[in-house]
Amino acid sequence: MDLYKRIKEELEQAKKNKVYNNIKILESKQSDMIKVDSKNFINMCSNNYLGYASDPLVIKAVKKSIKKYGVGPGAVRTISGSFDIHDEFEKRLAQFKGFEATLVVQSGFQANTGLIPTITTVDDLIISDQLNHASIIDGVRLSKAQRTVFKHLDMEDLEAVLKENRPNIKGNIFIITDGVFSMDGDIAPLDKINVLAKKYKAYTIVDDAHGEGVIGPQGRGSVAYFGLEGQIDIETGTMSKAFGLVGGFISGKKELIEYLKQNSRVFKFSSSLPQQFAEAGLAVLNQLEKDDSRLKKLWENTKYLQNKFIENGFSIGTTQTPITPLMVGDEATATELTKILFKNNILVSPIIYPTVPKGKARIRLMLSSLHTKQELDKVFDIISTEYRKIIKKQK
Ligand SMILES: Cc1ncc(COP(=O)(O)O)c(C=O)c1O
Repeated sequence: MDLYKRIKEELEQAKKNKVYNNIKILESKQSDMIKVDSKNFINMCSNNYLGYASDPLVIKAVKKSIKKYGVGPGAVRTISGSFDIHDEFEKRLAQFKGFEATLVVQSGFQANTGLIPTITTVDDLIISDQLNHASIIDGVRLSKAQRTVFKHLDMEDLEAVLKENRPNIKGNIFIITDGVFSMDGDIAPLDKINVLAKKYKAYTIVDDAHGEGVIGPQGRGSVAYFGLEGQIDIETGTMSKAFGLVGGFISGKKELIEYLKQNSRVFKFSSSLPQQFAEAGLAVLNQLEKDDSRLKKLWENTKYLQNKFIENGFSIGTTQTPITPLMVGDEATATELTKILFKNNILVSPIIYPTVPKGKARIRLMLSSLHTKQELDKVFDIISTEYRKIIKKQK
């Protein structure tokens, strides 16, 4: 079929199925409130967990960096060089995360697609949690290694997969998991994964996108949350969530980072993370180490809103983190509720198929340290009233 005819049909079908994503145009900075269509909304759909996205501290760091280094990085780092701020930030980030070395890349997505195909060979096996992030899935797709999945968080299944495959794999086995799962907010049992990895001589890779800045002492992330510093082999991460910025990173042993600098296609063939983001990342890191009041506020807000839902009989799935999925089931309900909330000046994102399986649609509410109790009360009151109305109408 003609390409544009097919595209048009698919787009029309998505609109008919009420799963078409209308992308909002934002007219103000990322904060607890945000302006859309000249109206102010309570912002419940940003990963700006600690409020750094528009914080004066970060803006100051970016301005300072632009004054000194300009804006563009020039080229890829293997050609035009690394800025000293890249180096400094990488060293500090490695310390913060409890690894020997770190490499910053352009995004968390690039961290996974830059790591996985680079370190795996045709003789290797990758074992991936069934619900891992799209960037891990794409990283695995780019790899020549054999691949399989284990049932989400299911350690019995992981052990069965390891037991079955270990005798047949000539090369290395890699177990890959999100640290915190972005759609459900549950935490991977890294302690148990680490035990199985040691037992079956496998390497561990954790994507800590939603863990860093959110769990563990000072927000050091999933590895520190389990006290597993020095035990997990490799970590990928992002600055697009709690850091409030953009940029990704890969942490591990010194040799691994040296190897990636020589061989990762994401590093070698794509211009570097802009230097001002390294500078801003360093400013956030300093703050995380100095002051955990935002982290405490984030968790206070999380408990406050989540308890309201639980006490009033709503399902928020299996979350253990500020990611709060209000489970509504079918796609159309999620889309309708989102529209009603929009009319009530609350911005949420419906998470629907294909991001999550059919029938597991949800309204994902993202908590931030910036939210006030009044804002959270309003969010709860309107959601509970409007959701009940929809359910009544459907019966
Ligand atoms: C688990 C996970 N990994 C990677 C990413 C990608 O991060 P970035 O937005 O920096 O590309 C995300 C964000 O959506 C994520 O949730």
